[in-house]
Amino acid sequence: MVDSLEIREYRAGDEEALVDVWNEFFRKDPLTLKVFERKVLLDPNFDQSGLKIAELNGEIVGFLIGIVRRYPLFYHGLEEENGWITAIAVKTGLIGVSVADHLMVEAFKFFKEKKRKYVWFSPYTPNYFFPGVDPERYGELFDLLVKHGFEKVYEALSMDAQLYPDYSLPDWVVEIEKKLEEEAVKIQSLETRYVYPLLKFIRENFHADWYRHTLELLQSGCDKDQILIAVKHGEVVGYCQYFHGEEYDWHRPGTHFGPFGVRKDMRGKGIGSVLMAKCLQSMRSKGFHNAFLLWTDRETAKFYSRFGFKATRSFYIMRKVL
Ligand SMILES: CC(C)(COP(=O)(O)OP(=O)(O)OC[C@H]1O[C@@H](n2cnc3c(N)ncnc32)[C@H](O)[C@@H]1OP(=O)(O)O)[C@@H](O)C(=O)NCCC(=O)NCCS
Repeated sequence: MVDSLEIREYRAGDEEALVDVWNEFFRKDPLTLKVFERKVLLDPNFDQSGLKIAELNGEIVGFLIGIVRRYPLFYHGLEEENGWITAIAVKTGLIGVSVADHLMVEAFKFFKEKKRKYVWFSPYTPNYFFPGVDPERYGELFDLLVKHGFEKVYEALSMDAQLYPDYSLPDWVVEIEKKLEEEAVKIQSLETRYVYPLLKFIRENFHADWYRHTLELLQSGCDKDQILIAVKHGEVVGYCQYFHGEEYDWHRPGTHFGPFGVRKDMRGKGIGSVLMAKCLQSMRSKGFHNAFLLWTDRETAKFYSRFGFKATRSFYIMRKVL
């Protein structure tokens, strides 16, 4: 059977079969065709030769999405040393019988042709599906990555908070907000006059993907109260935002919290706490019952736990040196 295995490039028309394989393999993380279209085919760096397809006796039984940057991510550049695998999936029962191994080998050839030094699983911005591998739910994927020379570099935690039935601004946050106002720091929803200062603030202080995220959220016409800012003397010194989901209407108000950041020299004064608490209040006032974030570390998780967030999932960000 395995003799008739062919690894080839993506061809137009494969998409539905790929989503079927995804849904069989990532059984706890189902995907729609629309999300596949948006995050894979419409990704600016999508490369047909990086999307490897495994066919067994003419049937698609697996795939691997490999990607390198063809266009710079704003001020983060091209990351010429890096390549990413954002997903690998095979039909049930085939992971142990070399289909995934063949996909990996072909992917490594792709990355070598592109002169990459590192291959990451799977934190490609903007269109990662997961920060990394979830070893609890997909142990076989973790084992496969280890077998092919990937090592854990760090861990990302997902957290969820319940906002229903009771959510109100904690008294201690109300106190901090008053104190901040005395120091001329105001926490408020974004207004047009602060759009430029906000983008400048993000550009000067945070990763380019955060900049891209806010830019796209605003370009999509999000509600201004989906973005909260901290302002001091006309300058933005902190912000957070929330949005909806993974399909084309991802930018609508929803339960996904973040990104979230405060200027380094302004941290530890309570600005982050007020931003967070008011953001959750805004989410609750639109009728959302919960809030989640996909990616934080164990130290910052302690901050989130003050607002009811609990760790719900752990991902290992893995890397292989080619
Ligand atoms: C997380 C962040 C927004 C908090 O903003 P802030 O204005 O400093 O928040 P506050 O002043 O209300 O509260 C800070 C408290 O959280 C703790 N804290 C927050 N992040 C922390 C971290 N990564 N490690 C250790 N402690 C942290 C602080 O020690 C402080 O504790 P204290 O109240 O006991 O002194 C800010 O630290 C930041 O911008 N970090 C970098 C970006 C980031 O990690 N964003 C979150 C991505 S998931």
